[in-house]
Amino acid sequence: MSSYATILLGLESSCDETAAAVLADGRRVLGQAIASQADFFAEFGGVVPELAGRNHAAKILPVVKEAMSRAGVTYADLDGIAVTSGPGLTGALLVGLNFGKALALGLNKPYVGVNHLAAHLQVTLLAENAPEPPFVGLLVSGGHTALYEVKQGLTDSPELLRFRLLGETIDDAAGEAYDKVGRMLGVPYPAGAILDGWANEFTGKAETFTRPMPKGLDFSFSGLKTAVVRRVKELKGKDNTPLDEQTRHAVAAGFQQAAIETLANKALAACKATGLTDIVIGGGVAANRGLRRLLTKQAAAQGITAFFAPMEFCTDNAVMIAARGYQLLKAGKFDPSGLEASPNMELGVGE
Ligand code: KG4
Ligand code: ZN
Repeated sequence: MSSYATILLGLESSCDETAAAVLADGRRVLGQAIASQADFFAEFGGVVPELAGRNHAAKILPVVKEAMSRAGVTYADLDGIAVTSGPGLTGALLVGLNFGKALALGLNKPYVGVNHLAAHLQVTLLAENAPEPPFVGLLVSGGHTALYEVKQGLTDSPELLRFRLLGETIDDAAGEAYDKVGRMLGVPYPAGAILDGWANEFTGKAETFTRPMPKGLDFSFSGLKTAVVRRVKELKGKDNTPLDEQTRHAVAAGFQQAAIETLANKALAACKATGLTDIVIGGGVAANRGLRRLLTKQAAAQGITAFFAPMEFCTDNAVMIAARGYQLLKAGKFDPSGLEASPNMELGVGE
């Protein structure tokens, strides 16, 4: 018997991370395990959907066992199972969903499907000094880049976070742009953290790229990516000479500067548009050191507080799924069976 009121198992398999986590009372991580396919896909330059599904199928059971053993709980201790139901790759989502559903049915426990995007923002609130809603949510990942007004409260479930979409990318996501620029510079997938490292250590003169700024609170990163492609071709010249390290770092630094300025600029514009004074940032690109520094500084200058997800919860993990699942279960918003994979699931549209 455990001393916690509610223990949930969270499962994540939407893209290239197979993850499981045991979370107590919506906050305390008892144990987690993540098997990343990033190295596997590095040689492909990105995720191959069919292979991702197969890899998840091979990994899900050992990952769940590992998380349960680290947590030191038994299956009987679980009060429910939360699984990513979208958005993501269909074949990948189905692995987690079917595993979670079967386990929940076998154990006769409640089961809830979780929106991966909501989970990326929800998990930021596990940190001690996290702000109270309402706040602006900036989600920056490999698949999504979007701004939300995040509020709390429905009449029937006052603690449930609710999202209203304010703007999103009209083409590439920020992480996707990092990965594509990385490929051009010979950096294996996923390239974000490496380019961030290069940009941070670079002390020379960075390349300059124009800032992509579509109207309102939408983002665009494909123009920036194209500008980088063009410049790299130019630098390589007619003979297609490989770029030296200094030049590759100068390109990375210039790209990073343009990308993070765009993100910071739009996040602050969202605060202005909504009158909110806290911004919460989640998703893989929230781990970017340049963005963390720039947005924190620019926000403070305007009396706004920027709050970033803890580093360990920026990229895909199952703690975030269990955290969101806890809220949904508590609010009675679960479907005990028949949940489908929703590869194009949206968040906060039409709210
Ligand atoms: O949230 P995430 O793990 O998966 C999705 O839901 O998409 O985000 C992965 C993305 C990748 O594109 C990766 O290159 C990027 O996050 N990323 C970064 C950094 N760390 C990861 N991008 C910029 N700077 C970083 N430090
Ligand atoms: Zn994600």
